[in-house]
Amino acid sequence: MPTQPARSSLPEEEDLLFRLLRQLEKAPGASQRDTAAALGISLGRLNAQLRAITEAGLVRRSARDGPDKRQRFTYDLTPRGAAEKIRLTDRFLARKFAEYDALHAELTGTTSGLVPLKHRTNSMQNNLAPIPELFVSYESSQKMKSEAADLVSWDLTPRQICDLELLMNGGFYPLKGFLTEEDYNGVVENMRLADGSLWPMPITLDVSEEFASKLELGQDIALRDQEGVILGTMTVTDRWEPNKSYEAEKVFGADDIAHPAVNYLHNHAGKIYLGGPVVGIQQPVHYDFRSRRDTPNELRAYFRKMGWRKIVAFQTRNPLHRAHQELTFRAAKEAEANLLIHPVVGMTKPGDIDHFTRVRCYEAVLDQYPASTTHMSLLNLAMRMAGPREAVWHGLIRKNHGLTHFIVGRDHAGPGKNSQGEDFYGPYDAQDLFREHQEEMGIEMVDFKHMVYVQERAQYEPADEIKDKDKVTILNISGTELRRRLAEGLEIPEWFSFPAVVNELRRTKPPRSKQGFTVFFTGFSGSGKSTIANALMVKLMEMGGRPTTLLDGDVVRKHLSSELGFSKEHRDLNIQRIGYVASEITKNGGIAICAPIAPYAATRRKVREMIEQYGAFVEVHVATSIEECERRDRKGLYKLAREGKIKEFTGISDPYDVPENPELRLETEGNDVDYCAQQVLLKLEAMGLIAA
Ligand code: PPS
Repeated sequence: MPTQPARSSLPEEEDLLFRLLRQLEKAPGASQRDTAAALGISLGRLNAQLRAITEAGLVRRSARDGPDKRQRFTYDLTPRGAAEKIRLTDRFLARKFAEYDALHAELTGTTSGLVPLKHRTNSMQNNLAPIPELFVSYESSQKMKSEAADLVSWDLTPRQICDLELLMNGGFYPLKGFLTEEDYNGVVENMRLADGSLWPMPITLDVSEEFASKLELGQDIALRDQEGVILGTMTVTDRWEPNKSYEAEKVFGADDIAHPAVNYLHNHAGKIYLGGPVVGIQQPVHYDFRSRRDTPNELRAYFRKMGWRKIVAFQTRNPLHRAHQELTFRAAKEAEANLLIHPVVGMTKPGDIDHFTRVRCYEAVLDQYPASTTHMSLLNLAMRMAGPREAVWHGLIRKNHGLTHFIVGRDHAGPGKNSQGEDFYGPYDAQDLFREHQEEMGIEMVDFKHMVYVQERAQYEPADEIKDKDKVTILNISGTELRRRLAEGLEIPEWFSFPAVVNELRRTKPPRSKQGFTVFFTGFSGSGKSTIANALMVKLMEMGGRPTTLLDGDVVRKHLSSELGFSKEHRDLNIQRIGYVASEITKNGGIAICAPIAPYAATRRKVREMIEQYGAFVEVHVATSIEECERRDRKGLYKLAREGKIKEFTGISDPYDVPENPELRLETEGNDVDYCAQQVLLKLEAMGLIAA
């Protein structure tokens, strides 16, 4: 397979190539005579061109049966041909802009007021004109779908699906695919693509080493969603192993896994990155809130239809409370603009309120806004919580969606505290970085300081604008405090939120004592995990209220993991299965008690992440020493392990990572089972998980 598409340098040649690809896309089976006539070239020249583009892999030639001898072949565009067509369109437009510049200078004698070419498409383009997408025509997409059966497939992760959607629909314009190594290096280093355009976030296709090693550069791969539906193809032009620690330092400010994106980078993302142009076949399918989701072009069309010119976007990953409403009103007034509430429904910070609940909350308060000036649309973005860089990224994405203004408040897209307990970014770092770049971005920031409630005046005001701070009562409920009040079923005052929003939140976030949770015992074989877990289960069942399930190590091995052994790989699988079942139980309001050995810290952390999306994860380390377990040797397994008759035995011939920060550590030596189970109950009570 040739690795490079045919590159023509002269504008006329490029033009001919573009017209030829377009013609073949329209009429792949037309006779050569008709194609030559449509292009206004000789048959000889057409033949030479067809040979060249077939060799370069831009089209696939297949023989065609039929009565008409002049129509012997069909030429179908390959994914690479479709990508080349998009590239040629861009180059054509760039050339036209250059001609426009020259003409403008000739007619007016001045070049002032013109925008440098490299920012041309961002700044010149009216915010309401259509934006380029990476999708091919419907006919081509149908053809590509059937041909993709021959391509090697990559099953996209949830985050990659979000990224691909915005790549294909123009939300990530000017990106034309997942970043190449050169673009990636520029973005990581100084927020610029290789051509100098501003782009602050690495949009990378991370894959496993095993998958990457199967590929050749220049190869087309199919990009599929988790059900196997093909969404697009990518020509792999680049493959490299990134320095993830360096990426973390530069992009997120610290190589610290307390940052959710750094944790993702090290613990979830594949080891190898692939880059190359993408051809869009179809949008990912969303079954929820369909009428509220808009592509950049759909939003632009809506603004055109409504006659809106200036529009300010409000980005959020939280429910809207009164402070947000005040802030959005003020922003629209300040910018003299219409308002777009543009919440993120892709991936937000782990632990956030799920988007189903949030959208119901937004819908509940939408009638607080004038319908003729305000619109709401959902954005399927996978956030990285990268503070300042994220703000610039959000601005560019909003610019692509046709917005002219963007609200940046306090601690925009903040990831919370680092592992030293300090904030990753300063509260107004995001505003500073946005301000530095906003002219080039072509979208204006509406910045806001922290909004607080002034009781005497019964209204919200920006904290820094309150002149009489000593004389008035300032009220504020932080996100953490709100979560605490919801968790404990406490009052949430009317000055803080709308009753409809609070009701919605209480429906999905009942108090902790009514939520599901998981107690995860870990320790050596024979440490007493199962016995304590059994006692705990009986005590919880005596209390009643929530369904309780025990996933004991031995029982799981019999029913869920009967085919697995004790290699690292198999143990990980076993624990992940337990984690999955426990997370489902937790999600549905039950109590899961797990009692496997679970020797590896990294796997336990993964299980914790799975479960904490839905409820509490209580890790209990049953800290019986290996000597004591061996002395007890209830099942006689330690003896066999010492004799080498059982291989890879935890604590004897296989490692055990002692939990560093479990919620509870149980010393069993000298304490009876009942006492240990009581300790767990007391812990659960202290965490608010069981109540009177
Ligand atoms: S793991 O590592 O978490 O998947 O192990 P787990 O499923 O909890 O192990 C369940 C029981 O298997 C018995 N067994 C072994 N344990 C450790 N290492 C080896 N090689 C091994 N082979 C069998 C052991 O009795 C475990 O029992 P308990 O006492 O329930 O932990």
